[in-house]
Amino acid sequence: MARFTNSSLDKLRDAIDIVDLINGYSDLRRAGSQYTGLCPFHEERTPSFSVNPTEKVYYCFGCQEGGDAISFVQKVESLDFAGSVEWLADRYGVELEYEELDPREAERQKQRDRLYELLERAAKFYERTLEESDEAADAREYLAARGFSAEVLKKFRVGFSPKAWDKLLVPALRQGFTEQELQAAGLAQRNDRGQFYDRFRGRVMFPLADTRGRVRGFGARAMRDGDKPKYLNSADGPVYQKGRQLFGADRARSAAAKRGRVIAVEGYADVLALHDAGVEESVAVMGTAMTDDQVVELSRLASRVYLALDADRAGRQAMIRAARVAEGRDVELLVVDLPAGKDPADLIAEGGAEAFEVRVKHALTVVEFEIQQAFAGAALETARERDALISELAPIFELIPAGALKDEQLRLVADRLSVSESALTSLMRERPKSAVRGDEPFAADAARRQAQSGMSAGTEKSERLFMASCLSAGTVGREHLGLLTDELLSTPLMRELRDHLRENFEKPAAGVAALKPQLRDAVTEVAMLSERENASDKAIRLGFLQLEKAGLDRALTGSPAGEKAKIELKRQDVIRRLGELSAEFA
Ligand code: UTP
Ligand code: MN
Repeated sequence: MARFTNSSLDKLRDAIDIVDLINGYSDLRRAGSQYTGLCPFHEERTPSFSVNPTEKVYYCFGCQEGGDAISFVQKVESLDFAGSVEWLADRYGVELEYEELDPREAERQKQRDRLYELLERAAKFYERTLEESDEAADAREYLAARGFSAEVLKKFRVGFSPKAWDKLLVPALRQGFTEQELQAAGLAQRNDRGQFYDRFRGRVMFPLADTRGRVRGFGARAMRDGDKPKYLNSADGPVYQKGRQLFGADRARSAAAKRGRVIAVEGYADVLALHDAGVEESVAVMGTAMTDDQVVELSRLASRVYLALDADRAGRQAMIRAARVAEGRDVELLVVDLPAGKDPADLIAEGGAEAFEVRVKHALTVVEFEIQQAFAGAALETARERDALISELAPIFELIPAGALKDEQLRLVADRLSVSESALTSLMRERPKSAVRGDEPFAADAARRQAQSGMSAGTEKSERLFMASCLSAGTVGREHLGLLTDELLSTPLMRELRDHLRENFEKPAAGVAALKPQLRDAVTEVAMLSERENASDKAIRLGFLQLEKAGLDRALTGSPAGEKAKIELKRQDVIRRLGELSAEFA
């Protein structure tokens, strides 16, 4: 992984004009020392999004998303940290310097770079073969007959591998690549008789690129129905691992960021058809059940993910797993119901983009979809059949945190099964361990998280506000941050925030993009709030006493009876001092 030197990151930060940058995504207006506008990350009518040109940070008081230019570009352009640094460096004309790697890592990096180079040459070779060679005439005809435009074939760098055994490897060896490298890149292999030969022959080649557009491997489609396998993929190696990548991610990236949605389909053909139909925010999971890695990749591309995938048994299990992964990542997962036996390419061939969009419009949440599927496939005549359905539904209900939505769904299902809700709930609890488990205590977890966030929202808010006033108050503020013990803060995040502010008191928001998202949002929020404020010493002392009281309230509920009296005494003292100090204000 590329590491930038701190000095070049500083140079980049100096060069960035954050108002100019963000203006390209939302109209900003000056408001005092800051700029405000409509938040580019969530729908809103009145501006709650602020940009601070001196600290070079943004924060949305509506959706609580915040950060600096680097995290902004990460979000709107769906790039990783390094990608976003490079994007900005390019735009603001800053030359980046890279940290010296340790020699072993540097060597590995060099080897990987050679494989990328080799794969890039292979992609070019296959592309040229499809375009020019006589033996690719059938392939050209086949692709045209399937309705793929010349543009989309070019965009995805579709190619053709010659039928002979060594058309790729001979020139590669001549250019100085080794047999080992050809093998590591998944392009050639040795058979039982010791002969070395091209892995891909006589096939239509789909290069698989990563989000930065680097070719990592290939999916190669047979030309005749009898040829097995239909798709031959690169063998796993140092730069390609099955299930780690999404086909088309590099091509879908900017459309996905713009439209706020990404569509996941099964296959190469679907992606090409969708792009041709103008739905450019489409990527493929490439056949096998979608992996957790892919769900994470999808969630990086956009905050709404449509799954237009096979809903066979394995597919549905993958969706439930995906819903669990998505749950922790602030991303909305929706399922597009496809007609049996049809993929998106078929739909588009029959009815154009509209036929597909109609289905997208009626997409269901994973939970709704699973309930629908479970009922659709179930016989409900006998009690045994109804029990079977209930145990199928149980893991789906585990996906829904306790609340009104869950109650409503339970009511609907109970109605359809003509059982009481309480009977249904207890039946679900008793169900035999289902096939689609994963992490068992999931539902309990989700419920607890929700309860906690509800409980701590107000408390955390006052802790954040207090820390913001500390930032604005100079020496007294610094002292009080020093006095903020763990007991005075209600969540681990607030303690991390305190630690960060203690260490970065002067420039709290410099380099926030490198922090984990929750902490980044919190740091930018307090940095932003501190600018608006100019807290007096008295206000700081008052805020501190309030946190002390809240801390003691918490301690009181959590402690054994024997200690309660002592805590209560302290609490009374804090209340008395609060009274005195407030009186001074009045
Ligand atoms: P499909 O069989 O649905 O293929 O497999 P497709 O993409 O619709 O292709 P066409 O329309 O028949 O040309 C979906 C995806 O599963 C992976 C490929 O990524 C394929 O695009 N797959 C399929 C394999 O990796 N190997 C196979 O043998 C078959
Ligand atoms: Mn197909």
